Amino acid sequence: MIKAGIIGASGYTGLELIKILSKHRGFKLDYIATSQGDNTVETLHPSLTSVIDIPVEKADINRAAECCELVFLALPHKASMGFAKALLDKGVKVVDLSADYRLTLKNYEAYYCPHEDKVHLQDAVYGLIEYYRQSLKNTHLAAVPGCYPTAALLGILPLIPYMDTASPLFIDAKSGVSGAGKKLTEKNSFVHINENIFAYNPLHHRHAPEISEKIEKIHGVKMHINFVPHLIPATRGELVSIYGTLKEEIDPLEVLKAHYKDETFIRIRRNPVDIKSTAGTHFCDIFAAKNGNALFISSAIDNLLRGASSQAVAAANLMCGYDEEIGLPDISSMP
Ligand SMILES: NC(=O)c1ccc[n+]([C@@H]2O[C@H](COP(=O)([O-])OP(=O)(O)OC[C@H]3O[C@@H](n4cnc5c(N)ncnc54)[C@H](OP(=O)(O)O)[C@@H]3O)[C@@H](O)[C@H]2O)c1
Repeated sequence: MIKAGIIGASGYTGLELIKILSKHRGFKLDYIATSQGDNTVETLHPSLTSVIDIPVEKADINRAAECCELVFLALPHKASMGFAKALLDKGVKVVDLSADYRLTLKNYEAYYCPHEDKVHLQDAVYGLIEYYRQSLKNTHLAAVPGCYPTAALLGILPLIPYMDTASPLFIDAKSGVSGAGKKLTEKNSFVHINENIFAYNPLHHRHAPEISEKIEKIHGVKMHINFVPHLIPATRGELVSIYGTLKEEIDPLEVLKAHYKDETFIRIRRNPVDIKSTAGTHFCDIFAAKNGNALFISSAIDNLLRGASSQAVAAANLMCGYDEEIGLPDISSMP
């Protein structure tokens, strides 16, 4: 068993990590920390009473390095890189759920803030499992992709070679409220979100450069991405609708099916996908259709799992030489 820890255990992705790791046969969860510490899992997450009982400590780099061979960082960007740098320097493997190690230095500093760990940034491997599997086996630092980029990239990457990449790509995305983390704001309060739906940061969301950077890295083409996320009155789940232009006569569903034929956790659907069928799981469900040269791709994930914590565990499995699929949830919370 590899000794693992979580820093940022009080948040939503932290809770999902505790749930997966407490039942994982390859990791022993030996360290759970928050910014304040001095707590129990039972008071932090009452839903885990009688499931796991270890103390919740105040986040401390020396303690984490003493207790763990691998640490999951479920922290906001900027806070994460300080912990990651110190842990990596002490020989601890790190799986970071924030944006801190996902982008090139140039893009990170253009869209987030000055980077404080340029050395390790160069070694980070993007944790989109299906595309970076081999590199993840040989890294000490995995950068878990953003939730929207996960759903969008898994849907679009196999179809890029058949698309007119000079035409703009429109990505219309909808997320449950947990995508914004546990901090309460006016926009995600019950009164504002209940029976409501609205766009936020249209055409200027930070996940657009992440999507275009990875398309360019994988396919060598620069695409103009028009990305508009929306918040919907659901707790979890993300549905991404992608509109592009085909340059070749293909059946997009057949292309997707052939591309992902060996992937357990990608399901190519004959009918449009929904968020509930993937909620509670590591699955990404994808559907595609065309009309002439107009292409529609629809992709659904659970933002807290495939979009964050289960993808983090899949990366950790690979980094530790385990079977990639150990511990990944596969039964949805449907109905
Ligand atoms: N939510 C999603 O669907 C999703 C999907 C993909 C990626 N992510 C990314 O994953 C990360 C965590 O997201 P989340 O949704 O779990 O956020 P969250 O619910 O807001 O939780 C973040 C946690 O970080 C802790 N924290 C903040 N600053 C800290 C510090 N300096 N030291 C120790 N702990 C600190 C907070 O704990 P305290 O209460 O102890 O202060 C908070 O509980 C973020 O970077 C987010 O962008 C989230």
